[in-house]
Amino acid sequence: MRTFLAAASLAAGCLLSGCGSHLPRMNSEQPVTRPDQLVSFEPLYAQNCSACHGSSGQGGPALDLNNPVLQQLLDDGSLRRSIQDGVAGTLMPAFGESAGGMLTDAQVDALVKGMRARWATQGTVRPVQMPPETTALIGNASHGEQIYQVDCRSCHSGARQRVTDPTYLALVSDQALRAILIAGRPDIGHPGWQTVAQGHAVSDQEVTDVVAYLASRRSMTPGQPYAAQPQGEPTTMAAEHKPTTEKQTTGRTTEPSRMEK
Ligand code: HEC
Ligand code: HEC
Repeated sequence: MRTFLAAASLAAGCLLSGCGSHLPRMNSEQPVTRPDQLVSFEPLYAQNCSACHGSSGQGGPALDLNNPVLQQLLDDGSLRRSIQDGVAGTLMPAFGESAGGMLTDAQVDALVKGMRARWATQGTVRPVQMPPETTALIGNASHGEQIYQVDCRSCHSGARQRVTDPTYLALVSDQALRAILIAGRPDIGHPGWQTVAQGHAVSDQEVTDVVAYLASRRSMTPGQPYAAQPQGEPTTMAAEHKPTTEKQTTGRTTEPSRMEK
């Protein structure tokens, strides 16, 4: 019935205005921008980024780009690289034409400049104690666990324990964990580097150690019922099947060993 009404009103419209002659003229009066010519931030961000990073850069499933500390942490080059090349092994897609995506260099620039203009605090100097975006330090996972027990457990227990859950960790790279620990996620109530540790600042080494601890809890088979042990720890079941050591770490132990029998 609706289809019929729509068709009928379209036909009526055509009778009044003459569709055939009118449509091409409408196009020339309001030229449609070709997708690769679009260089304004709002539509580019809305079409390509908002579903994961939130409609105004906050509250999305992926980290908040509308966070002045994150904008301070990442320089233009690394923002551009993340957008162009994506983050391998994560859900962050590669958008650059050079990497098989749809966005031109000019569009990537428009995104970077637009984020800076809207979401960075202009004219502030990066505090010298702020841990850098990347580090050459080696993480100490057991020290990281101590920090976690003292400084993170107070908030991350019960339902919020999930940051040490192998399934959560499978979705997020070490680099993103580092960014979250330094920049915080003010949109969901996680404090940044200046206050995350019982109200005082964390150093590069401490951030690196906590990331090493969280990384040590990743599983090769996230979300699967039997092999979701942190790396290398054989389950009772795996031990019964007597798999070889390297099969234990791939987590694909049960099926091949069953078939071998
Ligand atoms: C399908 C979901 C998805 C879409 C769409 C997406 N992102 Fe991401 N983005 C992610 C995830 C997930 C991460 C974290 C990746 C990781 O674990 O390192 C990320 C990371 C980033 C980072 C890196 C932050 C850092 O720590 O270095 C930047 C910058 C970024 N995204 C910008 C964008 C922009 C700009 C767009 C739109 C052009 C976009 N993203 C679209 C999911 C997405
Ligand atoms: C003052 C409370 C508080 C402290 C202290 C705190 N967090 Fe959080 N954190 C939160 C809240 C609230 C969230 C958002 C809720 C959630 O994800 O369950 C969060 C989110 C996170 C996330 C992101 C989860 C996501 O969805 O992407 C990570 C990672 C994280 N915290 C790690 C840590 C680590 C590691 C520490 C210790 C160095 C720490 N947090 C200390 C409150 C805190």
